[in-house]
Amino acid sequence: MANFVNPYRPGAGHMPPYLAGRKEEKKEFERILEQETVLENMILTGLRGVGKTVFLEKLKPLAISSGWRWVGTDLSESASLTEEHIATRLLADLSTLTSSIVVSKKTKHDLGFSGSETEENVTLDYNHLSGVFSTTPGLVSDKLKAVLEHVWSFLKDEEKFKGVIFTYDEAQNLSDHANKDQYPLSLLLDVFQSIQKKDIPFMLLLAGLPTLFPKLVDARTFAERMFHVVTLGRLTDPESEKAIREPVKKDAPVVFTEESVSLIVKTARGYPYFIQFICRETYDVFIQQHSETGASSSVPMASILAKLDADFFDGRWGRATDRQRELLRVVSTLENCNEEFSVQEISEKSKEIIEKPFSSSHVNQMLASLIKAGLIYKNRFGRYSFAIPLMGEFLKRQYPETPVPR
Ligand SMILES: Nc1ncnc2c1ncn2[C@@H]1O[C@H](COP(=O)(O)OP(=O)(O)O)[C@@H](O)[C@H]1O
Ligand SMILES: [Mg+2]
Repeated sequence: MANFVNPYRPGAGHMPPYLAGRKEEKKEFERILEQETVLENMILTGLRGVGKTVFLEKLKPLAISSGWRWVGTDLSESASLTEEHIATRLLADLSTLTSSIVVSKKTKHDLGFSGSETEENVTLDYNHLSGVFSTTPGLVSDKLKAVLEHVWSFLKDEEKFKGVIFTYDEAQNLSDHANKDQYPLSLLLDVFQSIQKKDIPFMLLLAGLPTLFPKLVDARTFAERMFHVVTLGRLTDPESEKAIREPVKKDAPVVFTEESVSLIVKTARGYPYFIQFICRETYDVFIQQHSETGASSSVPMASILAKLDADFFDGRWGRATDRQRELLRVVSTLENCNEEFSVQEISEKSKEIIEKPFSSSHVNQMLASLIKAGLIYKNRFGRYSFAIPLMGEFLKRQYPETPVPR
């Protein structure tokens, strides 16, 4: 017991000790896996810290056990700089799967001493794939399709083989760059749509922030029909409770009281990252106090939140200008600030509570810059939300007395 390690895992991509909820989302993925012909690809979306990356990790074994192969990585912005870059990314990922597949034997003349001949396997490794790519005439999309079809001609005879899932996390980084005449995002969509029409079971599974799906639809309207969107939202209260309690069920020196659990549930509001963060901090304190006094203690929420603000919020907040902060403060006084809000609501509220109110067109402009800064996003219905979960609560903590100056 003395060496019981704090089990909670706040941190991007860190698998939680107990992954709560997500039953429906898992079922939706399993349904997608049953397709014979790929008619639907999947998007996994949600705010930062909601659990996209760890959920992907959970889906991988499900896919593999039902006969799919799984390739892919995080998409960096540089991967989608040019069409060549994204093509290289796909070839490299695919080659991890195919590099041991033998396509032919090549006679190797040993020109050394003996003059003997040996046979060498030619495999579908990266060099081979990029050879097919570079010798295919036409556009990058033609070359890429040729490689995928080539690979498929070998894979299709494998036993118990359903298809390949190309999984890309942080896919909101994908972009077309019209000014440079580079369309890597459109390329990806075009290529997959085209090979899926040819009945090749290569599927896309993209994970990313809520900006992802609108971005794809902007690039290619057919993306709307091509993807099934699964949104990871907040955990329900019972699910949050499980995320808190399950990790310390066995062999733990201290457990949370009813009171502590409900305080954590209430504060984290179902956001997985916050649950892990608060639990980790709290549990450290509990263990220490328990070993010193043997008594159970209450959650030091104020100091935990101060730490959360420093770790999670301050970086983004620090980059906002004074006028942007003022606008965000106005937003934080809206009743629905943690859901959605409109330009008009912000502008009206600003007339009520600040000296130099924002006109609608001004709000519009500022929201655009806040979107660029990653603090706000605009949904498909033209309404706005904070791009960071519980930003409204953070803002209220910044201005505890009067939320907005007079
Ligand atoms: N279902 C869940 N139950 C408990 N904790 C979770 C759950 N999903 C995610 N977490 C935790 O939340 C944090 C954020 O997860 P992550 O997958 O990095 O989110 P995202 O990729 O959406 O930004 C991690 O600390 C992770 O352990
Ligand atoms: Mg992630």
